[in-house]
Amino acid sequence: MTAITDLVSYEAEGSVGVITINNPPVNALSVGVRVGIKGGIEAANADGSVTSIILVCEGRTFIAGADITEFGKPPQSPSLHEVIGAIEISNKPVVAAIHGTALGGGLETALGCHYRVANAKAKVGLPEVKLGILPGAGGTQRLPRVVGVPMALQMITSGTPIGAKKALEVGLVDEIADGDLKACALAFAQKVVAEGRPLVKISDRDDKLQEARDNPGMFDEFRKSIARKSRNFEAPENCIKAVQASVDLPFPEGLKRERELFMELMQGEQSFSQRYFFFAERQAAKIPDVPKDTPLIDINLAGIIGAGTMGGGIAMNFLQAGIPVIMVETAQDALDRGMALIEKNYAATVSKGRMSQDAMDKCMSLLSGTINLEDIKDVDIVIEAIFENMDVKKEIFGKLDAICKQGAILATNTSTLDIDEIGEATSRPEYVIGLHFFSPANVMKLLEEVRTKKTSKTVMATCMALAKRIGKIPAMVGVCEGFVGNRILHRRTEQATQLIMEGALPQDVDRVLFDFGLPMGPFAMGDLAGNDVGWRIRQGKGVTSPIADAICELGRFGQKTGSGYYLYKEGSRAAIPDPIVEDIIMKASKEAGIVRREISDKEILERCVYPMINEGAKILEEGIATRASDIDVIWVYGYGWPVYRGGPMRYGDFVGLDKVYASLLEYQEKYGDYWKPAPLLEKLAKEGKTFAEI
Ligand SMILES: NC(=O)c1ccc[n+]([C@@H]2O[C@H](COP(=O)([O-])OP(=O)(O)OC[C@H]3O[C@@H](n4cnc5c(N)ncnc54)[C@H](O)[C@@H]3O)[C@@H](O)[C@H]2O)c1
Repeated sequence: MTAITDLVSYEAEGSVGVITINNPPVNALSVGVRVGIKGGIEAANADGSVTSIILVCEGRTFIAGADITEFGKPPQSPSLHEVIGAIEISNKPVVAAIHGTALGGGLETALGCHYRVANAKAKVGLPEVKLGILPGAGGTQRLPRVVGVPMALQMITSGTPIGAKKALEVGLVDEIADGDLKACALAFAQKVVAEGRPLVKISDRDDKLQEARDNPGMFDEFRKSIARKSRNFEAPENCIKAVQASVDLPFPEGLKRERELFMELMQGEQSFSQRYFFFAERQAAKIPDVPKDTPLIDINLAGIIGAGTMGGGIAMNFLQAGIPVIMVETAQDALDRGMALIEKNYAATVSKGRMSQDAMDKCMSLLSGTINLEDIKDVDIVIEAIFENMDVKKEIFGKLDAICKQGAILATNTSTLDIDEIGEATSRPEYVIGLHFFSPANVMKLLEEVRTKKTSKTVMATCMALAKRIGKIPAMVGVCEGFVGNRILHRRTEQATQLIMEGALPQDVDRVLFDFGLPMGPFAMGDLAGNDVGWRIRQGKGVTSPIADAICELGRFGQKTGSGYYLYKEGSRAAIPDPIVEDIIMKASKEAGIVRREISDKEILERCVYPMINEGAKILEEGIATRASDIDVIWVYGYGWPVYRGGPMRYGDFVGLDKVYASLLEYQEKYGDYWKPAPLLEKLAKEGKTFAEI
């Protein structure tokens, strides 16, 4: 075997030249891999003993993408373009042997090969759009030439990979390996030679482009079909334009167009933020004071207390991960209702074709219920999701302490209560943690994990690993009012409320935030979640909010009652502005002695968003969140902050902390100390630094 580089080797096995890539963990296309592949192709072409070549990877996967640590650095030769070009013009047929995932540059490399063999579990895709860019090494030009334009558009704009079976169906792979992949690829390569099959250069093909040439309208139709999902994102549009170039331009021109469209994205703020977020998400899984090798608790059985809105959704996450769940309720009818709702939710997913009946049956077989708390004595983790009341929660935790086996994790889903205090209701506070799921808990990706002063490292490490197992994105935070997500949300809610007191209407505030990229504004969100929730909390605390209270007093709890800040027609979620609400607002302003004024969109945006950034800075100062990027992860996955703006903290960095600081000072002068910049923000602004640099 000859080492071409330290990451790639070449060896002739009989008449087949074998190029092997070994760049753990995912065989990313680092410069050493690129040099190695190109060198391997040259060596094989020069090797008189071989008539064909295979490209195969060691480890758990084929090339799973570019080396994104090279992004933004000066390019090193050879470029992936050159490597793929070298493969494509090889005089001997090259067969890619794909296992694991061939993603991004990995699939583009495979598309440079003349044939592709994959094992049955392999997946192939072009996920670049998720980083705000497009496949920039010929992927947008070659893929449509293989699978046709509609399929290529789908794959490139969604970034979602397809499985080997589908890939075979659409002609993206030529054979699925039956048995050992390398052996099959070797046999396939020999067969190609024996049968005198042509050296298929994808760049020469254009049969699959004809459909789009005959129907150029398909691009606009496709645009429309993804308009809602891709709202405000720049990358999907450039992906479409690039695929369109494959149809309209000769291959070399198409490559040039792809390059331009790629560079446009690469230099833009959106892809910067999306790439930032890619790392933010991975960082969030790490807790600095919890070592990687911290021993974990085995989680094989979960108990969930409270089969209400949250309990049911939380249970579904565990069931889908194959972890059996015992649900606990106070009364049989409540338990039956909760369990029936889980079943109904699964049945709806099955009927939409998004889950098999088998999978549903398996989930339901893992679910049991009881009204006897003692029945959860053997569970490895309990998640309490009962009413939000400190006394009731403390009572339950006292009982859990007496009932549950030693070593079990005792978690609460509270959104507002002091978890340190809940922990003290047990004799084992080190096993107590907050697992704050978001509603609907079976859908929302975020799991805000809340450590108390005493939560043990083992419990934290276990819950971080558990989050991954049940398909959630975790971020670890500390105890404070509202934790990180809701604490920041409250600042926005306060300003949104204040803005409608001063002159804006709910639809103005909601429009500005929707256009900014959030899925909805604060008032539409209140109507969706139920305005009564906040009303009850205010009543409990003895505080008032004139407009919100007046709306609730009319029974306008939101979508569920057909009206809230807006009116909803039966069966529709479309929010219709309502004169009754306007009257309530006018009256409230008048009673508060406020002369209403025109408020600009700029002011609406700044007043909603800058206090969030300022609160984030306070959260960092207090050590409640470890990194600014953790706050961003919470806001993207928990509240739908647009990922192309990175998160509120990244947005602050983008605007410039000096500018945010200056605006806060201006508002402070007008509206008082609510607006006082956090010392951390002030320091960073004065030093010309960013949150990312902390
Ligand atoms: N709803 C949300 O959006 C949301 C989001 C995040 C967190 N939370 C938190 O989750 C918790 C539950 O909220 P929810 O919206 O699911 O409430 P819910 O009212 O829908 O459900 C609570 C359930 O707990 C049951 N219950 C009450 N006392 C019990 C006991 N002693 N033993 C067993 N079951 C008992 C009730 O019968 C009810 O079915 C609260 O702490 C809440 O703050 C709610």
